[in-house]
Order: sequence, then C-alpha cells, then structure tokens
Amino acid sequence: MTHILIVYGTTDGHTRKIAQVLAEDLRAHLCSVDLLDAAGKLNRLSPEGYDAVIVAASVHIGSYQSGVKRWVRTHAEVLNQMPTAFLSVCLAVLEKRPGAQREIRAIMLRFLRDCAWRPTVMKLVPGAVLYTQYPWLKRWMMRRIVAKAGGGTDTTRDYEYTDWNDLRDFVGQFAKRLPVHDAMAGGIL
Ligand SMILES: Cc1cc2nc3c(=O)[nH]c(=O)nc-3n(C[C@H](O)[C@H](O)[C@H](O)COP(=O)(O)O)c2cc1C
Repeated sequence: MTHILIVYGTTDGHTRKIAQVLAEDLRAHLCSVDLLDAAGKLNRLSPEGYDAVIVAASVHIGSYQSGVKRWVRTHAEVLNQMPTAFLSVCLAVLEKRPGAQREIRAIMLRFLRDCAWRPTVMKLVPGAVLYTQYPWLKRWMMRRIVAKAGGGTDTTRDYEYTDWNDLRDFVGQFAKRLPVHDAMAGGIL
C-alpha cells in the first residue's frame, strides 16, 4: 500500500475540506493517508517514511499560512527527494484582469524559493468565498475585492469555486505515478 501524507494550511476552513476530499479519493485509490494540519499539535510530524506528500495551502493577502511555511522549510531536504505536490488555493486564479495570473504564480514561486522546496507537481486551485463565516469587516472587504474580480457578491451566501472533478482527476494522476507497495510483496514468513 502507498503511504501518503497530506499537510494543509487553512484560515477559513476551505483548504481543510480540499485536503479531506483528496484523502478520501486517495483512499479510494487504495492508498493509506495521514492528514496533518500544519497549525495543529502534530506539526512536528516528519515526511520520512511516506511514499509521497501533498501540501495544500491558501493565499491570504499574498501569503500562505505560516505553519505551512515552517513545516515545508524544515523538511525541504526530504521533500526534494520524494514525489510531492503543492496545491495553491486562491481566488486570483479566477480573475480575468491582465497580470492576475502572473501575480498568483509569483506568490507561489516566492514561497517555494523561500522554503527551498521543488515540488514534483503544482496546481492552482480556485478556493471559496465564505461570506456567512466572515465577521462584518472582512465580509465587507471581501465583497469589494470579489466584485472587482467578477465573483459573487451576495453576502447572505457562500461561493465555492473549487472544481472538485478537476481536483479528483489531478489526484488520480498523481496517485497513478506513485510506486505501489504490495502488502504481500515481501512474502510470508
Ligand atoms: C482576508 C482574505 C484575503 C485573501 N487574499 C487573497 C489573495 O491575496 N490572493 C488570492 O488569490 N486569494 C485571496 N483570498 C482568497 C482565499 O485564498 C480563498 O478564500 C481560499 O478559499 C481560502 O482558503 P481557506 O478557507 O482554507 O483559508 C483571500 C481571502 C480572504 C478571506
């Protein structure tokens, strides 16, 4: 069985949901999966011993969660020797404005450079606007930002832009490229 670690950083909870969907899907591909919240108690867990690692983090004001940065920086040397994926959850990926895609790629590349991590694959994942969870000031601010980007502005509801099928395809492709460890391969003593 292939052992996969998913490390995630979240501020409002949407990237946790993404990490949980990835975990469910990988388990359906007969992988064993551990989920690690980079801000949680187990944040010292090492990637050593896993066959692959997926890191997912969301962009807030041009930066990722500090717990994710710390974890990746600490383990970059090990991560660079194994199959890894980085999922950057954001909203700018939806923007039509010229330069938006360049900006979001620059945020991702700066993070990777600062952590000295070279993931095998990377993906920009559209996130969510969770108006109903935000305190009023954040809701007001987000409505203005999202309106400029052409997104939904009804603050009485949430907007989920994540394409779950696309995400499942991505993780399926990633899992297919990993070595399969047959539980019986070592023989029976
Ligand atoms: C206060 C705030 C700031 C944000 N800043 C950015 C940003 O700079 N660039 C971007 O693409 N998305 C930005 N977003 C969108 C988030 O990346 C998106 O809402 C994501 O789904 C959040 O994931 P989380 O719930 O796991 O924290 C911001 C969202 C909030 C609430």
